[in-house]
Amino acid sequence: MRISHRTQKGEEAYPTEIPQFGLGVFLMADDGDCKSSVLAALHAGYNHIDTASMYQNERDVGRALKETGIERSSVFITTKLRRGDAVGYEEAIEQCKKSLELLDTDYIDLYLVHAPPVDPEHRAPVWKAMEYCLEQGWVKSIGVSNYGVAHLDAMKKYANYMPSVNQVEYNPWLQRPHLKQATEDAGAKLMAYSPLARGKKVADPKLGEIAQRLNCTPAQVAIKFCYDQGCITIPKSSNPSRIVENIASLNIDISSEMDAIIALEENYVSGWDPTTEP
Ligand SMILES: NC(=O)c1ccc[n+]([C@@H]2O[C@H](COP(=O)([O-])OP(=O)(O)OC[C@H]3O[C@@H](n4cnc5c(N)ncnc54)[C@H](OP(=O)(O)O)[C@@H]3O)[C@@H](O)[C@H]2O)c1
Repeated sequence: MRISHRTQKGEEAYPTEIPQFGLGVFLMADDGDCKSSVLAALHAGYNHIDTASMYQNERDVGRALKETGIERSSVFITTKLRRGDAVGYEEAIEQCKKSLELLDTDYIDLYLVHAPPVDPEHRAPVWKAMEYCLEQGWVKSIGVSNYGVAHLDAMKKYANYMPSVNQVEYNPWLQRPHLKQATEDAGAKLMAYSPLARGKKVADPKLGEIAQRLNCTPAQVAIKFCYDQGCITIPKSSNPSRIVENIASLNIDISSEMDAIIALEENYVSGWDPTTEP
């Protein structure tokens, strides 16, 4: 999938290709299941890993990549500026350098502001720092995460380059049509985190019935739904057989059950939701 940044003049800048499917590594431990899960995923055909400074496992993501011997350009790495570090221009630049070092890489494919900086005064300088990292070539693309409609709107006043991606919780139980539209109107793609609602909805009986009719697993229905809605989709699993199961969802045709899946909507937030903060 192609992503790019819209300039003030409405032109496209820094276009790049992003694999629309990847492995999320939240709650995977450095020196624990992170490296083995990334290795299992790369082996299963994944070519996109979503990590974050906050997850404290960037070093293991880098190590796994080195261990496989796969060329750096064949794997897309997304990482994020920790919210607590999003407090100013210099601080954000320092954190980008730190992530590059931990990942042991010359560049990051996609660098995200993990959530709107708590102090609204910090939002413009932090984004300026993200733009600087982009211009330096340290990162190939920049974006935001957990930005709501108002946060995106405010960016139009201070951004030279609008974000290429907005990563937010998105799944059959939280479909966010307004936020998805606002993200696309800003020239960005929606990146669906927690496509399984953190595992809390995999046992939903209605989802189970749909999966049975489609002859696949419940998790596969939820993942493929996000993917078919045009979202970059990054389910997490530390379980090697589920890692394979999850990528296999890309081959499943769920179109006959689309109405039933859309009807699962219940505005359910499985984790946090900074999109509604002022
Ligand atoms: N930007 C943000 O603020 C933010 C917030 C949350 C998440 N994220 C990103 O999005 C990624 C995914 O979201 P998430 O980790 O919150 O949750 P998720 O992917 O919705 O769900 C992960 C949970 O589902 C289980 N699971 C995975 N595959 C399964 C399957 N096939 N069948 C049954 N259960 C399955 C996992 O357990 P096992 O590991 O045991 O399989 C885990 O407990 C994260 O890892 C992270 O990279 C970003």
